[in-house]
Order: sequence, then C-alpha cells, then structure tokens
Amino acid sequence: MGEDKRINLEVELSGIRLRNPLLVCSGTYGNGREYAEWVDLEMLGGLMTKSVTLEPCAGNPPPRLWETPCGMLNSIGLENAGLESFLAGELPWLSALPLPIWVNVAGFSQREYVVVASEISRSGMADAIELNISCPNVKKGGIHFSSDPREAADLVEKVRKVVEIPLYVKLTPRCGDIVEMARAVAAAGADGISLINTFPAMAVDVETARPRLANNTGGLSGPAIHPIAVLLVWEVARALDLPVIGMGGIWSWRDAVELMMVGADAVAVGTLNFSDPAAPLGIIGGMLDFLKRKGIDSAAALVDMAHREGG
Ligand SMILES: Cc1cc2nc3c(=O)[nH]c(=O)nc-3n(C[C@H](O)[C@H](O)[C@H](O)COP(=O)(O)O)c2cc1C
Repeated sequence: MGEDKRINLEVELSGIRLRNPLLVCSGTYGNGREYAEWVDLEMLGGLMTKSVTLEPCAGNPPPRLWETPCGMLNSIGLENAGLESFLAGELPWLSALPLPIWVNVAGFSQREYVVVASEISRSGMADAIELNISCPNVKKGGIHFSSDPREAADLVEKVRKVVEIPLYVKLTPRCGDIVEMARAVAAAGADGISLINTFPAMAVDVETARPRLANNTGGLSGPAIHPIAVLLVWEVARALDLPVIGMGGIWSWRDAVELMMVGADAVAVGTLNFSDPAAPLGIIGGMLDFLKRKGIDSAAALVDMAHREGG
C-alpha cells in the first residue's frame, strides 16, 4: 500500500505526520487493543480513542443500539473506565504503537474536561487531544457544550491553557451555524476541528409505542449522515484555515475521497468498523488506486479539490 514510491499517501496535521489520511473514529475501535488481533493497526494513519472521562462511567442502560435502514442509532453514553485506568492501562499500550493517537476527552463539567485534558497532555503519551463537546447521549455535558459558541469557546480556552499538544475540537452537526461555532473554538485556541459527531435522532417501536433505545434518544451515524458531513466540512474548510478531520458515514474509498475534496485534511471511519474492522485498510487501498488512475501524486493533493474546481 504505502510502498508505492510514485504516490505519497502521507499527510501532516498540526505537525503530526500520518502515513496515510485514514484514522478510525472515537468509540468505534475501542482503544485499539481489541482490534489488534485482526487488523494490522500500523497500517492506519492514526487512531482516535473512545472518550475518556474523569471517573469511570457505566454509560446508558441497554438497549443502546438500533440499526436503521441507512445507519445506526446509539446511546452508549460515554461508557469508559475513567482517566486513571486509561493512563495506567490503555495509553502506554497505545503510545507504543507506531501511529499517532488522538485521545478523545469528554466531561460532565468544565472542570472535568480541564483535568482530563491536562493529565493526558502531561503524560507525554498522546499525540493530540480530540475534545468531544458534542456527545448527544448524556444529560449533562456533552452536546450542551457545543450548542452555544460562547460556551464552547469558554471551555476550549480553559482547556487550551493546560494542554501542550495539538487540540482538536469535535463538533455536532446539530448546531445553528457550523462556521460560527468553528470560528469560536478556533479563536479560543483549537488547532483543528473534527466533523461530525452523530446526529441526534430517535426511533419508536410502534407495537409497544416505546422508544427503541432505553435512553429514548440517541445519535445517528453511518451512510445516512454522510452528505451532512460533506456539507459541514465544505462550509468549515471554506471559511477557516484550520485542519479538519472529516468523518460521518464513510462506507467506501469514494466517501473518504469526497470528504477530502471538500476540505478534510484527514478522514476517520466509524460505524463501518463494526461490520468490518479491516475496512479502513481497504479504503486506503481504494484511495491509492483512485490516485493512480487519476494521475494524482499525493493524497494531500485531494484536499480542497472541490473548492478549486469551481465551488
Ligand atoms: C457506537 C458508537 C460510539 C461512539 N462513541 C463515541 C465517543 O465515545 N466519543 C466521540 O467523540 N464520538 C463517538 N462516536 C461518534 C463517532 O466517533 C463518529 O463521529 C460518528 O459515528 C460519525 O461517523 P460514522 O458515521 O462513520 O460512524 C460514536 C459512534 C458510535 C456509532
């Protein structure tokens, strides 16, 4: 794959070199270890961990997943073993991998975000932080922080002060004006933007008149949200000069290329990993074949192509 000397798949984001632009999305690849037996993780461009919170978090009660015709509803609710366990058990293993690691940080209060982000940065074991201010599945925190640009900026500013590694902020697609939100977090010190988190959604079993998810509502992911991701990456990339990691319903190499063409500097595969953990590697291969066929000599040349071609 990356061996082809004529085509350079490498991309660079905030000074971090990725051997190719394919990452895996937070919450869809565990903390990597679970997949190491089946997939050669070193072939990935990078890995985004599942959200880490200060204290262990049990998440929401089941059922927490519901498959829809074009995607998946989930209400996992930030289930994780907490910061201490992550720092002692998961992060040392992850940091030994020869690929960049974005540690996804979440919280239920400003203080929690600040403490977790600061500890991750101080550990020296993470390449970057992805601040999840857009989880739709928790009652406090999460999406609350990305519903108002001022509140989001206030949080990012506080986190910025305690973090010395690149800071990416993950936004929800359900916000009034994505450009205003991206500008606010950029002005507060974000180094990059991740787009998009799941779209808040719901399904009801008509036989019982009960919601399909115990939490009632959840977040929609998969192909259903891909065109929304394309639009939002397009809008943010056009307005801001900041790296963007694009995600949302990538199901094939075409979807990955599409997100890069509208401005994503790298892309991340999410829900697809549940049906095929090796899918990201196939997507890298498909992207390489596309570049060869088109006579394009680098993956980086795809970035913004749709803007240049008359957008
Ligand atoms: C089961 C599941 C768990 C997720 N957990 C997290 C999480 O812990 N933190 C986070 O920032 N995003 C989480 N996400 C959102 C994904 O990282 C991604 O932004 C979203 O699913 C869109 O990409 P996709 O359509 O390719 O899945 C989760 C998504 C799914 C489907």
